Amino acid sequence: MSDDSTAGNGIFRTTRLEEADGPGTNPTENRTMGEIIAARFSRRGFLRGAMATAAITATVSPMALMAADEARASEGKSAFDFPEVTAGVDADHHVAEGYDADVLFRWGDKLFADAPEFDPLKQSEAAQQRQFGYNNDFVGFIPLDGADDHGLLVVNHEYTNEHLMFPGIVTVKEAKVEVAPATEDRVNIEMAAHGGTIVEIRKVDGKWQPVLDGRLNRRITSKTEMTLSGPAAGHDRLKTGADATGTRVLGTVNNCAGGVTPWGTYIMAEENIHGYFKGTLPEGHAETANYKRMGVPGGSYDWADFHDRFDLAKEPNEPNRFGWVVEVDVMDPNAMPKKRTALGRFKHEGAESIVAPDGRVVFYLGDDERFDYVYKFVTAGKYNPDDRAANMDLLDEGTLYVARFDEDGSMQWLPLVHGEGPLTTDNGFAGQADVLIETRRAADLLGATPMDRPEDIQPNGTNGRVYVMLTNNTKRKEPNAANPRVDNAFGHIVEIHENDGDFTAEAGKWEILLKCGDPSVAEVGATFSTETSVNGWFGMPDNCAVDADGRLWVSTDGNSPSDTGRTDGLWAVDTEGAARGTSKLFYRVPVGAEMCGPCPSPDMTTFFVAVQHPGDGGEDWEGFGRPSYYEDLSTRWPDFRDDMPVRPAVVAITRKGGGKIA
Ligand code: FEO
Ligand code: CA
Ligand code: CA
Repeated sequence: MSDDSTAGNGIFRTTRLEEADGPGTNPTENRTMGEIIAARFSRRGFLRGAMATAAITATVSPMALMAADEARASEGKSAFDFPEVTAGVDADHHVAEGYDADVLFRWGDKLFADAPEFDPLKQSEAAQQRQFGYNNDFVGFIPLDGADDHGLLVVNHEYTNEHLMFPGIVTVKEAKVEVAPATEDRVNIEMAAHGGTIVEIRKVDGKWQPVLDGRLNRRITSKTEMTLSGPAAGHDRLKTGADATGTRVLGTVNNCAGGVTPWGTYIMAEENIHGYFKGTLPEGHAETANYKRMGVPGGSYDWADFHDRFDLAKEPNEPNRFGWVVEVDVMDPNAMPKKRTALGRFKHEGAESIVAPDGRVVFYLGDDERFDYVYKFVTAGKYNPDDRAANMDLLDEGTLYVARFDEDGSMQWLPLVHGEGPLTTDNGFAGQADVLIETRRAADLLGATPMDRPEDIQPNGTNGRVYVMLTNNTKRKEPNAANPRVDNAFGHIVEIHENDGDFTAEAGKWEILLKCGDPSVAEVGATFSTETSVNGWFGMPDNCAVDADGRLWVSTDGNSPSDTGRTDGLWAVDTEGAARGTSKLFYRVPVGAEMCGPCPSPDMTTFFVAVQHPGDGGEDWEGFGRPSYYEDLSTRWPDFRDDMPVRPAVVAITRKGGGKIA
């Protein structure tokens, strides 16, 4: 019980691990902090004021009005043609009129014909290992035999919210929440609810259904055995008492966004790994600075109380075995997942990829922390579309780059290669393994640009550009050109133009597609087009997708009654022509949830979306107004049954009567 079961202000400790409002762990930014060059503002204060007076259309900048005139003059039409959803907050989800939003998998749903039915009062590790995990984030669709109506759904389960999952563990005294101490059973259920799901699905009469006897169905958890591969595998810094080879790890944690490779494997990115570790390193231990830069230990979970490997005092190298990109061969249900060390170790948001004209494959990687960096990895080998097996180790060899965004709108991709520039033995890098284990420090030395929390990054093969979601950074005091707002509460989107449209290029140009937030509040400085309605703007871009027609969709994490007067959702954002910068709301989530995983099917008839941590919060929603936990939930979506808790779920959105999403 204890106070350390919560993290102040009544917020549950495992609530939004990624949102911990710490200063970031990049010391290089701290050294450059200078004068605050723009007036800070209180976003909560002015938004409340703005909404109280319904002054939503009041103050649009002259520049924006000019842009709108130009837009109308050239009759720029949006690439999207669905009726917009009304932004707001309530207990349910909402999709554009003319579309169905059908729950496909909920936390606890059976993934195998012989799995037990979900019973929230009788949870067990064994049951959870055969059921859909918690907090679905990345969603990918891998067609089977090239079919549009039959394939594998791959889903990350990023983390667990114990106060929403387990009955009888929360007490509220004088408006302060307390969580009962963790038990071994509870920890093991949580470990089984982390990881990923691979499950066969089929469309029958226009609706997706699970195939529970699918041979490829699989759960991956925080105990699944996996290998480390690539340049850092086997290094002394990766060896532990349980693994003298430095190549075998149990499990993966905090799998946030991810990717599906051109050769049909599933990528699970390990993001906020710091929260799983406790304890202290022995005095003067060689990993002290490395762990500090990663925020380890973060202590959000109590796994270390029951599993020694999460205790730094007992297994000081274990944190070096997390923070990687994990690749899973979905066609072999027994294949050991591989942690691909060539792609670096940091708080990986995701890993979306594209085949470059010369056949090499480029993966875009965000390091989601305040003042951390944008990366890409270019394979050394070329993708072979005719020989899947030949591609299976492409991720073990290649060049990792970090981005420097220059003031003149150009940019450089700086290679993280041992022996080049400052990445030398003198600076503590004995070889490429050290560069990869301490990717962040290597990038610091190269002079990478500190960003406002890089989340999902999506290349667009139809226009040769790349979209970088920068979710927010309320700690920024000194702007740079690519992160121009101090106290950046609402985030922005950067568009990269690789030189010659070649995704392997080492230089390019960049511009800002959108500064997010309420465009009717001048101080926010948002840049949505004036064609964007009061429902169409958003804050905190997080995940994104580019559909088969090259259209950009953005999902958000952090919109709330107090910050933006709306829940998170999925917005359609025009990037081309005069409509550029216009945004429309397509789908919105229930109170407390974050919108993840937007995954358009290849034929564009389905949008798979992930509703993560619904019901986590409600204090600032007038319809609830108090902490939300198992016995007193702000929503019981999607079942709305008194005997069923709120459940994170993947939703399949289709058009009524069939057809493409317009
Ligand atoms: Fe797990 Fe960066 O979101
Ligand atoms: Ca995310
Ligand atoms: Ca997020």
